[in-house]
Amino acid sequence: NGTTGYCHSVKITVTGAAGQIGYALLFRIASGAMFGPDVPIELRLLEVPQAMRAAEGIAMELDDCAFPQLKSVDISDDPTRAFDGTSVALLVGSRPRTAGMERGDLLAANGGIFGPQGRAINDTAAADIRVLVVGNPANTNAMIAAAHAPDVPAARFNAMTRLDHNRALSQLARHTGAPVSSLARMTIWGNHSATQYPDLSQALITGDPVKVEQGWVEREFIPTVAGRGAAIIDARGSSSAASAANAAIDHMRDWMRGTKAGDWTSAGIVSHGSYGVPAGLVCSFPVTSSGGNWQVVPDLPINAFSRSRIDGSVAELLDERAAVAALGLLPGQA
Ligand code: NAD
Ligand code: LMR
Repeated sequence: NGTTGYCHSVKITVTGAAGQIGYALLFRIASGAMFGPDVPIELRLLEVPQAMRAAEGIAMELDDCAFPQLKSVDISDDPTRAFDGTSVALLVGSRPRTAGMERGDLLAANGGIFGPQGRAINDTAAADIRVLVVGNPANTNAMIAAAHAPDVPAARFNAMTRLDHNRALSQLARHTGAPVSSLARMTIWGNHSATQYPDLSQALITGDPVKVEQGWVEREFIPTVAGRGAAIIDARGSSSAASAANAAIDHMRDWMRGTKAGDWTSAGIVSHGSYGVPAGLVCSFPVTSSGGNWQVVPDLPINAFSRSRIDGSVAELLDERAAVAALGLLPGQA
């Protein structure tokens, strides 16, 4: 298939398949929302042993949808089986935060999951494997997984900031009255956390620069987008699920099928030093995709306000890297 890059059926592994996001994600993948109507899907569900029964129930429901594209569903609690020959891995399985927790509180609890999964991906996945880490703290978990997969290019490990990107688009649309479809060139910089920097300084509405009050940007827009995860937990009693699943679909679709001409999106990718972000950190950047590869949008002007916001989030990523290195979660570092 020339559009997606996949010419045969594609094996897609979803970890945490019996969780909230899994329940919102699997049915959309199986319906073809990720790679279009022409690509047959083989689903692999990875869960912990105590959730295998629930995963079996989801597989029964997937059966009951009679999705024409869904060739098979395999359930396992063994990462080496779940990632065997897989081309797309969505690493969702991990503990979500609850009220009062910051994402950093999850470092130790969840960091331990991503090393073994990175190793299993390294040893068993297909050569074209692409990994999207959704489980929090997503950026640092992606770095941990990549560090355990030395034979897989680090660029194949992404962290999801597409939900933040979509939140930012919706807030801007709501404030300006312009439809989401008329907006372009939004950027999320940094960590998928409260320090992230949603940047609309380059944003366009029907091709023209966005004109909004800086006061609104600083007092409303940035705090609303960066605090949205906590606001959802507060309102729903559990963390975002359907919107997170939707963002995962958007991320993988754009990665494989390319971004729209004249626009870009946001993704957590391994830094090579662009915009002063230290190499090796998994940081959200403005990115375009073609041929299944992301490129950082080059040469954007960064004013003093943007610089300090980007630096603030990068400082948190450096702290997270130091914390997981101290926990022994990054091979070769202590
Ligand atoms: P959930 O608790 O409903 O589900 C998590 C599932 O993962 C559970 O079924 C659990 O059994 C499973 N799991 C735990 N350890 C596992 C392992 N080692 N292997 C396989 N499965 C395992 O949680 P959820 O609401 O689906 O959220 C999952 C993660 O996604 C959380 O870390 C949450 O914070 C994060 N999240 C990220 C974003 C984002 O934008 N990046 C958005 C929303 C949620
Ligand atoms: C979100 O952004 O909704 C998720 O990362 C969940 C959370 O803990 O905020």
